[in-house]
Amino acid sequence: MSEKIRIMLPEEEIDQRVRQLGEQISQDYASESVFLVCILKGASFFACDLAKRITVPTTIDFMATSSYGSGTVSTGEVKIKKDLDLPVSGRNVIIVEDIIDSGHTLHFLDNLFKDRNAKSIKKCALLDKADRREVDVTVDYVGFSVPDAFLVGYGLDYDQKYRNLPYIAVLDFE
Ligand code: IMP
Ligand code: MG
Repeated sequence: MSEKIRIMLPEEEIDQRVRQLGEQISQDYASESVFLVCILKGASFFACDLAKRITVPTTIDFMATSSYGSGTVSTGEVKIKKDLDLPVSGRNVIIVEDIIDSGHTLHFLDNLFKDRNAKSIKKCALLDKADRREVDVTVDYVGFSVPDAFLVGYGLDYDQKYRNLPYIAVLDFE
């Protein structure tokens, strides 16, 4: 079986949308500061680009949760693989994810940061596979709604490959 990639979102389109999200966040948090929580590794490209477009005082920290392993199906169970270095208590947290699929990851993190007494919590996902939702979770900022396909590039991987692609592509198995 060979892997084929088809470009779905070119680099320019992603860049334009990330700038818009940055502007929107900057307006929404005018005279406040934000604490971006980047979920490794997938959201790292997006979170860094987004941070550059936010004009209010911004802190960024990184966290890793368990995801799909080497397969393409969610287990529904979320574990912390690497925790934040900084406390979230009293901060305006924005969780930055590459993609929301079943919703388990964002649901888990929302509860975690509530327990840790964040001042406010919002969720930002570059991509949203709404059809696949298993738990009800609101996403405050969405880059693109995408169909139920397996996507790679701009941080998203398949078996740790393709993260470095500058665009987002559909991965087909032939
Ligand atoms: P959720 O917990 O099911 O919402 O899954 C979110 C995580 O699953 C994301 O952070 C990704 O790491 C991974 N994921 C979901 N769909 C894809 C995809 O199409 N390509 C690569 N990773 C994906
Ligand atoms: Mg992820």
